Amino acid sequence: MTKKVVAFMGSYRKGSTLKIVERFESELRALGEVEFKYFWLKDLHMKPCRGCGLCISKGEEFCPLKDDRDQIYAGLMEADGVILATPVYSLQVTALMKNMVDRLAFIFHRPRCFGKTFIPIVTQGVYGMEKVALYLDEAARLWGFRTCTGVALTIPWDKLLPEEEEQIDGAVKRKAADFFMQPHNPLLPVPSLKEVMMFHGVRSFHMANVGLPADHDYYMQQGWFTSDYFYPVKICWYKKLIGSWVGRKSRQQAQKIQQARDLLP
Ligand SMILES: Cc1cc2nc3c(=O)[nH]c(=O)nc-3n(C[C@H](O)[C@H](O)[C@H](O)COP(=O)(O)O)c2cc1C
Repeated sequence: MTKKVVAFMGSYRKGSTLKIVERFESELRALGEVEFKYFWLKDLHMKPCRGCGLCISKGEEFCPLKDDRDQIYAGLMEADGVILATPVYSLQVTALMKNMVDRLAFIFHRPRCFGKTFIPIVTQGVYGMEKVALYLDEAARLWGFRTCTGVALTIPWDKLLPEEEEQIDGAVKRKAADFFMQPHNPLLPVPSLKEVMMFHGVRSFHMANVGLPADHDYYMQQGWFTSDYFYPVKICWYKKLIGSWVGRKSRQQAQKIQQARDLLP
């Protein structure tokens, strides 16, 4: 079956980052049937987040900014595979890419990308790409993605030497093969201990419903107040045990917060 891949481009120009994404695309096409779509953030209209937090506390439909956010969101949700591609700017993603992550911050709270595969593609001049790739990987995991180790490459300003071309091609080819295989894998990843602990800690907090009603309702709708994890997966006994302990602690903490709030005038 054809897989849909969407690349969100955080670069302000059609430069090195695009060259790498295009190579990645052609590797994927060589591996099988792929529908590949580009979203150029520079050409879309997405205002900077105002920080009201309404998307988090009340629901994404309450964001006061009216622009192309929903188009970007729809692109993300229709894809089987997602690429966030960015050059390193001052040791971080570009402002365009950061704004995209900020405007979709409600997904950190109400994750929904389970079963989708993610890869970051990062280019740099000299330094910073590893941390940037890790940042994007962590964000995508929290959104629910299964993530692949990113493509992170140093691209010289000048023309590439043949051996540099070869190195880049080799790296892209390996990562594309890994990315291509993932959507065909019916098994969702087994969560780490940290992920299980976070699941229990956060869901106990939402169960107590002490301030984020949209998250509470979402967790309830998804059946996460009674499940072992976000999705059906075998979790070993010690992760469950530690997870339940974290859940209990979080519940106690939430109750304390509620009691203290009740005393406020
Ligand atoms: C404003 C600005 C900041 C940059 N900051 C960094 C940086 O912190 N580290 C680095 O290695 N390269 C940095 N670079 C270089 C770019 O990351 C690199 O040239 C990248 O491959 C450009 O991608 P593009 O051609 O898609 O724009 C910076 C470039 C610009 C324009």
